[in-house]
Amino acid sequence: MQKKSIYLVTGGCGFIGSNFIEMLLKKGIFVINLDSYSYAANKKINKKFNKFKNYIFFKGNYGNIKIIKKIFKKYKITKIINFAAETHVDNSINGPIKFIKNNILDFSLFLNECLKYYLTNKKKIKNFKFLHVSTDEVYGSLRIKEKSFSEKDKYFPNSPYSSSKASSDLIARSWFKTYGFPILISNCSNNYGKYQNYEKLIPLTIMKAMNKKKIPVYGSGRNVRDWLHVEDHCSALYLLSNLGVPGEQYNIGGGTEVPNIKIVKMICSYLDNLYPLKGKKYSTFINFVKDRPGHDFRYSVNYNKIKKKFNWKPKVNFKNGLKQTVKWYANKIKNGNLQ
Ligand SMILES: NC(=O)c1ccc[n+]([C@@H]2O[C@H](COP(=O)([O-])OP(=O)(O)OC[C@H]3O[C@@H](n4cnc5c(N)ncnc54)[C@H](O)[C@@H]3O)[C@@H](O)[C@H]2O)c1
Repeated sequence: MQKKSIYLVTGGCGFIGSNFIEMLLKKGIFVINLDSYSYAANKKINKKFNKFKNYIFFKGNYGNIKIIKKIFKKYKITKIINFAAETHVDNSINGPIKFIKNNILDFSLFLNECLKYYLTNKKKIKNFKFLHVSTDEVYGSLRIKEKSFSEKDKYFPNSPYSSSKASSDLIARSWFKTYGFPILISNCSNNYGKYQNYEKLIPLTIMKAMNKKKIPVYGSGRNVRDWLHVEDHCSALYLLSNLGVPGEQYNIGGGTEVPNIKIVKMICSYLDNLYPLKGKKYSTFINFVKDRPGHDFRYSVNYNKIKKKFNWKPKVNFKNGLKQTVKWYANKIKNGNLQ
């Protein structure tokens, strides 16, 4: 029986995946990262990880069965954490089919190979788990006074991105029910922190402001998101990869609901302190733009289940976490070192 865990992380050059791998490497855990190196991948972080003896990188699509077979032949994987996905809602509106192919079809090919691996090796591997990282967006949108989404709520995805993730969740669930594949699903809220792509709200706002360019804010900016520090998210995922119950679904939230315009204004005021402009405030660059089609108004998740079962709760205070995050990106942008 194998004692030590070997993690296979997909999409480990992306925002959350790279934070997760960094955490595992610091714990001395052996990690294999499979990433297709899409535009969203952070290639610099991979170079940094490559210095660790307990890190192996494979460049490839998780739908490429040849690569998956090669990895499973060589390593006795005990945990699979699936972050790989096309993730930007705006891109999914402009090109939905890529999302359907990547997040549903290629994902299913991967899942099927993982099942074959599990069935052949289940007697030799201890506490094997496949954790599928999904999103709160699968539940759809809330009005201001409606209750936060719990794991029992129905799926009502509204964008091609969220519907592709919802589909992958349902496929994953069926692999558990039909084949007994030990899969768990986690649905997290909006993450923030280091290593995020500059296309997303927080890094984009910092980048535009620092470059004295218009800061785009959709519609009236009143849309609410529930913010979760990426390190809190990673600690929850690590916990689930060890103690989570196969077949179960767990919401992971930050418990901090903030309208987009408020975040943008907070970022501007932190920048006013860090890098003051002469006679001007960064908030003067805020520019309201035409709303995103089908833009969900509010996301909020109830994370009582993971709190009650495993005593997990987010630790990072939002104001401190955001301040630290702004400092991190602003410093990178100042030094022309974007990744
Ligand atoms: N960022 C958030 O706030 C957030 C919130 C909820 C859920 N999620 C989910 O968490 C996961 C990670 O999100 P993220 O923000 O880190 O994404 P990201 O876009 O920053 O990174 C995704 C990574 O996956 C890789 N990838 C994409 N398709 C692949 C494929 N077919 N095979 C191998 N690698 C592939 C990309 O190259 C990239 O490195 C996603 O599944 C996303 O749906 C993210």
